[in-house]
Amino acid sequence: MSCSPADGLLTCPNCGKPLDLGAPTRRCPNGHCFDRTARGGYVHLLRQARRGSADPGDSAAMCQARTRFLEGNWYAPLRDRVAAEAAALAPHDVLDAGCGEGWYTRALCEALPGARVCGVDLSKYALRHAGRTCPSAEFAVASIFELPLADRSVDLVTHLFAPMADREFARVLRPGGHLMTVTPGARHLWGLKAVLYEKPYENPTEVRALGGFTFEREIAVGDTITLTDPRDIEALYQMTPYAWKTGKEAAARLLALPRLETEISFQIHLYRKN
Ligand SMILES: C[S@@+](CC[C@H](N)C(=O)[O-])C[C@H]1O[C@@H](n2cnc3c(N)ncnc32)[C@H](O)[C@@H]1O
Ligand SMILES: [Zn+2]
Repeated sequence: MSCSPADGLLTCPNCGKPLDLGAPTRRCPNGHCFDRTARGGYVHLLRQARRGSADPGDSAAMCQARTRFLEGNWYAPLRDRVAAEAAALAPHDVLDAGCGEGWYTRALCEALPGARVCGVDLSKYALRHAGRTCPSAEFAVASIFELPLADRSVDLVTHLFAPMADREFARVLRPGGHLMTVTPGARHLWGLKAVLYEKPYENPTEVRALGGFTFEREIAVGDTITLTDPRDIEALYQMTPYAWKTGKEAAARLLALPRLETEISFQIHLYRKN
């Protein structure tokens, strides 16, 4: 079972009217057209004026690393819990904000038959993969700080490891709708950090107060994983922020390991729109 196409959830970035999703070219009632790319099932809705860089969002290499690691199912406990918690909310319209390659979006679609699901990300490389692997959701290149969605148009926003845009999330959520955020737990990737750093620090885990939302509850998800393929160790490293802030020597130490055991831990925070 899978969700139905997200007809009408996405809006025209020029005039804000709903896009007709019936044809390969998306059109708004004012005649603005957006081609659904042939290579991947996504539409480009980032406003020209807002394109700070010609190639915004995560790079092809970062997306490849994340895809390899996630497709290895190492984060399956998190994916399954996110999908189960989403299903318990029984939303009709869902946005996965900063959806990356759509690995979690796909699980949402499977857990929410009949729901309309869309995903937004800045990276076209990520969305190429998302569009191919999750054809029942609608994907758009756009910024989560300027979402191509109407006010009060979704019941659930999922937000995993992406920049926070609480004001935009509050705008697009219906009153009483939910925001589900996922952030690393205190000892997430402790084993990996212990190889990289002499004195690893725990991640901060306080609940963030978000304007327009009431915090409802926290769900902790944790496990220990053992990677025995150096390519998986490298893929995990490349998808973390440590890949761009670690010295060469420490990185080489990690990448020379034949095996890595590490804790994984996540916190799911559920907020309700006021
Ligand atoms: C760490 S990845 C997480 C991807 C996905 N949620 C996952 O957990 O697999 C962060 C994602 O946020 C995207 N991103 C960063 N800034 C963004 C913005 N302003 N608007 C939309 N996406 C953004 C990146 O391109 C990247 O795909
Ligand atoms: Zn328009």
